[in-house]
Amino acid sequence: MKISTIDLFKISSLEEQKREDLYIGSLDPLQSDERLRLVPAFNQERDTIALVLMLVDMLPSVTEATDFDYFNACAAMRDIGIMLGSLKRHGVEPVHVIPELEEKLNIIGNITDLPPRDTLIHYVRWNPEDARLRTYTGTEDERQLIKSVQLSIHPLYEAILSLNDLYSLPLSSPEFAPLCDKVITEFDGMVQGVVNAKRNVSPQYFAEELRFYFDPIILNDREYLGPGAVEMPVFVFDHILWNCDLEDKMYTEFKKAYVPYNQAMMRDLYSAYEYSPSLVNKVINELIGEYQVSDIKLRSAKTLVKLFNLLKSFRAPHKKLADEAYKHAEKAAYREKGSGGYEPGVLQYILQLNLQALDRLKESIQLYENKQIPY
Ligand code: HEM
Repeated sequence: MKISTIDLFKISSLEEQKREDLYIGSLDPLQSDERLRLVPAFNQERDTIALVLMLVDMLPSVTEATDFDYFNACAAMRDIGIMLGSLKRHGVEPVHVIPELEEKLNIIGNITDLPPRDTLIHYVRWNPEDARLRTYTGTEDERQLIKSVQLSIHPLYEAILSLNDLYSLPLSSPEFAPLCDKVITEFDGMVQGVVNAKRNVSPQYFAEELRFYFDPIILNDREYLGPGAVEMPVFVFDHILWNCDLEDKMYTEFKKAYVPYNQAMMRDLYSAYEYSPSLVNKVINELIGEYQVSDIKLRSAKTLVKLFNLLKSFRAPHKKLADEAYKHAEKAAYREKGSGGYEPGVLQYILQLNLQALDRLKESIQLYENKQIPY
């Protein structure tokens, strides 16, 4: 797909998407509003038998599952997902105890055009509010974790779409700097999400309890990851801004692992940039190919540095939060891997790559500035 065709993505505007989220949130196709309120107590008591019986009772028949429309399928997967994560938290592989799950999850996953289990989108965007909120633990920490991602996920989508627009502008465009500022304002939602988590989610509780509900489950003879915040498409933002052309095996594998947990719009956007220069390299090339310094280009490039700095303002405190959580983890509960299946060390690795790209941009701006006195 060509990058120029990406405007098509906006057919379903983000406002429409938010309305759709509320609608899916309002649905209860498995009549689970009441019974899901019992889940936190079952989890606290580690009552896996009660959890299995509840899930069996909730499951639609194959015919009912096949007849779900898109919206009801999304809501049904959200509710089944709470049960999957709960069982797995206690070491029970859901399909081992309920074999017919596999066929039903595959049917529902097909209708939603997402994996055959719940994702972060089900857990956060399609989770209803207040008394109907679906949680594993019923704790304020979990509610605040959900809220942290709610604060940031739509602003992140907006930032990605605006970054996609920015990509097609040359540095000489007077629109470059204002649009880049718009991306900055939108991406700030990510920073707010981390601030909220830092204030309201105990790192110790996250490390010792919450993250285990996001563990992968086995389906179709492979693993499917659970609905952790790591599934957010920050990697799509990175991909466009600084790394779709970066040859780094580990980070490329990381990105590819999470692409399928995002909706078609993000998956297509990811593919569209796979063989393109990143925005930062496009900008560096524009700077080094010039013999005269222009104020407008300089301003554009410096605004891009501001955007990079904001990415750092998300990553550095988020890494600190993760480090604190894993430091607090009790020895018994300690595992190297995070909820997304990666070691927490991956955060340092990504941050490092991110800073290297920023340094290259800054160096090329400095060289550019030193060329001549601006006219
Ligand atoms: C107590 C709170 C949190 C802890 C302890 C934590 C921990 C982690 C860890 C260990 C990873 C590594 C990957 C993995 O899980 O396998 C990760 C990745 C990630 N987390 Fe969190 N996280 C927290 C909250 C949040 C919040 C609130 C957001 C977003 C608003 C978020 C967004 C991300 C993203 C986007 C990644 C992918 C790596 C990156 O792009 O740098 N996390 N997190």
